[in-house]
Amino acid sequence: MIPRIYIPGDSGALALGAEKVAKAVRAELAERGIEAKIVRNGSRGAYFLEPMVEVATANGRVAYGPVKPSDVKSLFDCGFLTGGHHKRWLGAPDKTPFLAKQTRLTFARCGVTDPLSLDHYKAHGGLNGLQNAVAMTPADIVKQVTESGLRGRGGAGFPTGIKWKTVLDTSADRKYIVCNADEGDSGTFADRMIMEGDPFVLIEGMAIAGIATGATKGFIYIRSEYPHAVAVMQKAVEIARRAGVLGVNVLGSPNSFDMEVRVGAGAYVCGEETALLDSLEGKRGQVRAKPPLPAHKGLFGKPTVINNVISLASVPVIMDKGAAFYKDFGMGRSRGTIPIQIAGNVKYAGLYEAAFGMTLGEIVDDIGGGTATGRPVKAVQVGGPLGAYFPRALFDTPFDYEAFAAKDGLIGHAGIVVFDDSADMLKQARFAMEFCAIESCGKCTPCRIGSTRGVEVLDRLAENIEPEKQIALVTDLCNTMKFGSLCALGGFTPYPVMSALNHFPDDFRPTPVAEAAE
Ligand SMILES: Cc1cc2nc3c(=O)[nH]c(=O)nc-3n(C[C@H](O)[C@H](O)[C@H](O)COP(=O)(O)O)c2cc1C
Ligand code: SF4
Repeated sequence: MIPRIYIPGDSGALALGAEKVAKAVRAELAERGIEAKIVRNGSRGAYFLEPMVEVATANGRVAYGPVKPSDVKSLFDCGFLTGGHHKRWLGAPDKTPFLAKQTRLTFARCGVTDPLSLDHYKAHGGLNGLQNAVAMTPADIVKQVTESGLRGRGGAGFPTGIKWKTVLDTSADRKYIVCNADEGDSGTFADRMIMEGDPFVLIEGMAIAGIATGATKGFIYIRSEYPHAVAVMQKAVEIARRAGVLGVNVLGSPNSFDMEVRVGAGAYVCGEETALLDSLEGKRGQVRAKPPLPAHKGLFGKPTVINNVISLASVPVIMDKGAAFYKDFGMGRSRGTIPIQIAGNVKYAGLYEAAFGMTLGEIVDDIGGGTATGRPVKAVQVGGPLGAYFPRALFDTPFDYEAFAAKDGLIGHAGIVVFDDSADMLKQARFAMEFCAIESCGKCTPCRIGSTRGVEVLDRLAENIEPEKQIALVTDLCNTMKFGSLCALGGFTPYPVMSALNHFPDDFRPTPVAEAAE
């Protein structure tokens, strides 16, 4: 059997030099006259080890990383094609500490299989969920998803089964499934990783959603900054269509479902579901007032399920292994697993899929290994640019929707960004207001005008102009934005601002110039 070498083609790994490594491996194979198959797999998510090169040996896969092009010659000299020892040797990839302790349900195949091999997908449990779904009634599929406890992973945590039931119960001549792959939150990359590393799981999840609700057409709305994900998804849709996974008779059943990939033009607000629908319809992405809900009147006025990539990609394992299996993981009303994306100033950055319930401290200190700079952790922003900053005093908060809400925070899309003690939280609060001002769709006044006024107030505070007055003003302004905005962009910007102010008050009272000079 010819040797099989896995070199990630995932954009995170490419950014870290995977293409140069692949080129060096190809050149070395040619020079040594060795025939081998190079598979461009997805990343397993341990980005601090990327580019992580793996070889299939008689004793299973052996990983090496992070591999530099200059390591390649010596890797061959050390016999890496049979798992030989080398300074970059990591052993079995799924036994490395970062990966060994994870519970991989949604990401079970990511980094393991060839992303565009449907045979590989099937050999690793792919299509079992869809196979079960085509033999069930739509109502039973919806019941299964509802009972699993799956909640939307895009940010709001809304129960997926209830959303699907609303669309199922709404009669119309046409219904749609829209996958939200806009992934605009800072520090998040789970959607991208699954689209590049295991695209068929998303296709399978969307097909199940279609069959469950009576929708026959799906759209995946991908942000333009994800060209690799767009390319992989387009190829995967083609392959699935040719294999009869999509089309008029899904897996030979009477169900029809097909889909297309659409690329956004680049606006954070187009991740908001109704702005996304406007954008898909070819209009400028602006938030729609609700009601009507998209489940009643969504894309082109038809009942529409809009779900995040991870919500949809989690459905196949639920339909394969059952609602009870999935529900068994997690805590409280947060069931199943969540792919936590650890980023920012952190030693071990990457994607960590685990059951809900780990504390923030465990994630930052034990899994993330603390800061990359080695300085003390000052704050962690959880849930993207609209998420709150958590100080170390709140590190005992378990990763659970309700527990985070009780601490005036949110889980969002489960991205966490770590900051060390050199971070200036007043600057971070200003950044939140500025981000809102830039990204606001302009439809409502508290967000459109409030965010600009917020920047001005925080600038005056930084200049130490009547600080107490500015703090009272920004607090009042945040209250207006929180309760008066039409969507969560204006409504949640107060979370990073007020959490920074409440947890790090010293940063909001700059030392007077004269005092600092003493
Ligand atoms: C400003 C803003 C940006 C958003 N961006 C995203 C995004 O990039 N991806 C996403 O899935 N949801 C995003 N959402 C949430 C969506 O509006 C919606 O709740 C989600 O797509 C529903 O899918 P889910 O139930 O599977 O989470 C955003 C919301 C707001 C207010
Ligand atoms: S809160 Fe901001 S983004 Fe949302 S509708 Fe209002 S102006 Fe648009």
